[in-house]
Amino acid sequence: MEISLKDKVVVITGGSSGIGKSIAGSMRECSAQTIVIDLTIPSEKMERVTYYACDVSDGLEVRRTIQQIIEAFGTIDVLVNNAGINKPRLLVDIYGKDSNYVLTEEIYDQIVGVNQKGVFLCSQAAAEVMVKKRSGVIINISSESGMEGSLGQSCYAATKGAVNSFTLSWAKELGPSNIRVVGVAPGINEKTGMTSPELYEAFAYTRNVPIEQLDTGYEKAIPLGRLGKLSEIGQLTAFLASDLASYITGTTINISGGKSRG
Ligand SMILES: NC(=O)c1ccc[n+]([C@@H]2O[C@H](COP(=O)([O-])OP(=O)(O)OC[C@H]3O[C@@H](n4cnc5c(N)ncnc54)[C@H](O)[C@@H]3O)[C@@H](O)[C@H]2O)c1
Repeated sequence: MEISLKDKVVVITGGSSGIGKSIAGSMRECSAQTIVIDLTIPSEKMERVTYYACDVSDGLEVRRTIQQIIEAFGTIDVLVNNAGINKPRLLVDIYGKDSNYVLTEEIYDQIVGVNQKGVFLCSQAAAEVMVKKRSGVIINISSESGMEGSLGQSCYAATKGAVNSFTLSWAKELGPSNIRVVGVAPGINEKTGMTSPELYEAFAYTRNVPIEQLDTGYEKAIPLGRLGKLSEIGQLTAFLASDLASYITGTTINISGGKSRG
């Protein structure tokens, strides 16, 4: 049995780097017409992948970009909502050492704008196309924190909880139109843009540990004893996009080496 996405038009948001790039690679490997929507277009583009610059938190830009994709490729079969940002911040400065790591209204709006509103905007624009042809798949990239909560990342985790809830509700709304809506919730993985030095400083402060300690202890926390590979998330997402997953909808699948209770 092979995963085939031949002739499927697959759109991945945030596909220029990290997990999204790996998802784009997996989709392409399964012969999908692979399209990336991202704030930034990489200088080294992947072959056989088409890129569109777009801010997913901007409704007008999303509408314009989806329209351009329809004009160029005729339809959208699969949407992967992967674009996301994270800025670790505490509700209050419980350590009393640096108030720069307190969640502000501005940062709250940024995180919710991309991780939650962006998922709504892209899904609505794509679902309009899918409903008309009575087929399609929407895959929401969540995080185990959406079910577990996360010290120092309450706003980020809350957006992922909201995304899990979108998955549940949209599966109910769109199932009768033969559209599946599925979530993928990764745990701790190989490095991506979300593990930049700036983010590490914020992680370290909000968890009250030295930066050097952030990358230790995984063996104990993850039953499989290693970080997740980006390729593993790409492969799962390609499977969920394919007809092999034709009876899977309204659920979020954890891919965390056994770490999550979710
Ligand atoms: N890295 C992890 O360990 C991990 C764990 C759990 C969940 N996730 C989720 O996986 C997804 C991808 O994360 P990643 O680690 O690959 O991050 P990343 O920073 O490497 O990639 C995110 C991509 O999204 C793009 N992006 C950001 N804001 C955007 C916007 N407004 N409009 C369009 N594109 C935008 C960025 O340019 C980037 O290419 C996110 O939804 C994240 O929450 C990641």
